[in-house]
Amino acid sequence: MHTIIVTGASRGIGRAIVEHLTGPGRRVLCVSREQPVACEAKAKLLQAELRWHQLDLSDLDQVLAALPTLFNASRLHDSERLWLINNAGVLAPVKRIGRIDPMELRRNISLNLMAPMLLANAFVEATKNLDCPRVVVNISSGAAKRPIAGWSAYCSAKAGLEMATRALALEQSLEAKPVRALSFAPGIVDTRMQEELRRTPREDFSLRDQFIAYKDEGKLASPDAVAAVLIRYLEADAFENGALVDYRELTKQG
Ligand SMILES: NC(=O)c1ccc[n+]([C@@H]2O[C@H](COP(=O)([O-])OP(=O)(O)OC[C@H]3O[C@@H](n4cnc5c(N)ncnc54)[C@H](OP(=O)(O)O)[C@@H]3O)[C@@H](O)[C@H]2O)c1
Repeated sequence: MHTIIVTGASRGIGRAIVEHLTGPGRRVLCVSREQPVACEAKAKLLQAELRWHQLDLSDLDQVLAALPTLFNASRLHDSERLWLINNAGVLAPVKRIGRIDPMELRRNISLNLMAPMLLANAFVEATKNLDCPRVVVNISSGAAKRPIAGWSAYCSAKAGLEMATRALALEQSLEAKPVRALSFAPGIVDTRMQEELRRTPREDFSLRDQFIAYKDEGKLASPDAVAAVLIRYLEADAFENGALVDYRELTKQG
């Protein structure tokens, strides 16, 4: 059994990942606040194992309470391969520092940085005695490397997440049976996140027109294409532990 835990599974890139992975021999454990009915119907049709955990990952008390169920050893022990894909993410607050709602700032860092670190921590602990290959994928962004006005929370959280990925890889290189970690930057993808950006007032997001032009000029990748490339890359199992890969580079090469 190949077990995959995917956060942010209800729409966008996460949902596309779930749709690609739903099938025989795979157990997909989905995390998000909403639970789309269509995914369950497809899983039933394919007799695939799909379970949903409805969870607000920006509420760290909820996350801590859910960890024992999510990483229940009895559901993982028959795995021949295990992936944790930390995909859930949010851009808001898109505001300049000084105008940010503190609660929104807290939700951003909790969801984009704290929750993936808590999940990775629990994943490493819960699977430490398993012999199968184990991988943690953290979905990153070009914003981890480049400051963008209005995106201080998002840029900081994604930069932190890239460092958390590298630290995990370094620590695991000291272990006999290392977990492997990967940062994956998906490029610019046609999801609700981009829709929200195009609606953000210019005074909060000075690059708004550029992002509207990306959409008008057909420069956005589809979530389906991004999911397919990521899964193919993971299945090839040839990446260096701690690597950062970008969807655009992978598709340029081949
Ligand atoms: N789209 C892009 O251009 C782009 C570019 C670079 C990086 N990324 C990254 O790619 C990842 C996926 O983004 P996307 O574009 O697919 O965004 P999206 O369409 O807005 O989907 C976001 C997903 O995260 C989940 N999520 C949001 N808040 C949550 C919460 N509080 N608790 C649990 N789940 C929550 C949502 O589920 P619920 O609302 O049901 O909870 C949804 O499934 C993110 O990490 C994002 O930073 C995207």
